[in-house]
Amino acid sequence: MTARLLVPLPGAEAFAERLAHAGGFELGALETRRFPDGERYLRLLCDPAGRLVDIVGELSRPDDRFLTLAFAADTLREHGAREVGLVAPYLGYLRQDARFQPGEAITSRTFARLLSGLVDRLVTVDPHLHRIATLDEVYAVPSVTLHAAPLIGDWIAREVDSPLVIGPDLESEQWASQVAMRAGAPYAVLEKQRFGDRDVRVATPGLSRFAGRQPVLIDDIASSGRTLIAASEALQAQGFSPPVCVVVHAIFGEDALARVSQAAARVVSTDTIEHATNAISVAPLIAEVLGQGADSQAS
Ligand code: R5P
Repeated sequence: MTARLLVPLPGAEAFAERLAHAGGFELGALETRRFPDGERYLRLLCDPAGRLVDIVGELSRPDDRFLTLAFAADTLREHGAREVGLVAPYLGYLRQDARFQPGEAITSRTFARLLSGLVDRLVTVDPHLHRIATLDEVYAVPSVTLHAAPLIGDWIAREVDSPLVIGPDLESEQWASQVAMRAGAPYAVLEKQRFGDRDVRVATPGLSRFAGRQPVLIDDIASSGRTLIAASEALQAQGFSPPVCVVVHAIFGEDALARVSQAAARVVSTDTIEHATNAISVAPLIAEVLGQGADSQAS
């Protein structure tokens, strides 16, 4: 039996190593650099001939990463890979899933079509599905969607005394309830309204029955950080102490982490995106599903 071959995109080497270690997979490598004109050079430093291969790389800030992924996928096939999958712990371009103003691009749809043309299958963690029910609605290749809620629930149970799990908006209820059940804690959801990229307002329902508990704000994405900040302010206005903030995907653009840190007791994330706040690894979760599709052909 030949182990799957994992090929990390630039920046994903540490995550791919954790994944390889968790699942007993083989780690390949790419050499990449920029030509003086800014274009990308890419070379395989492993032999994918006849192998099941997974390119590993999260797709936040995807505009540049997408081309690198395209070059890697084509090159792997040209060198005989039997199947080229993608492990993207964070999958970008899911939030603009509708045309809110005339003339807007529905980027989630275009990105899904382009990505489906590159890889044979996809594994990801907590994709931001809002108006889209499943990835199958936009992706033409088979996909596996994994959920970090049990890992987050276990982390909260270990690390936080007397927690109160808080989802920042009504859409997060299902997720907050799963995390809370796993952590053995109560939960509540707030009411969020977004008026712009950095203009978020949050209203809190009456939470006095939870007085004295440590709020744990959970969200799938922290990008501008405004959701966490507004939720933290609303909770503190009700007399709660600064929340522990737990996010799946730590995008944290610009000064977002500094701002959120001022409003929070602690900020942690899963390692779907490599970030200073990473405290919970999704590598074992992904390794488990990749292992189920192990290459059983004799080498
Ligand atoms: C929204 O529906 C998501 O669940 C997050 O709350 C949102 O993406 C966070 O973005 P930001 O950090 O920019 O407020």
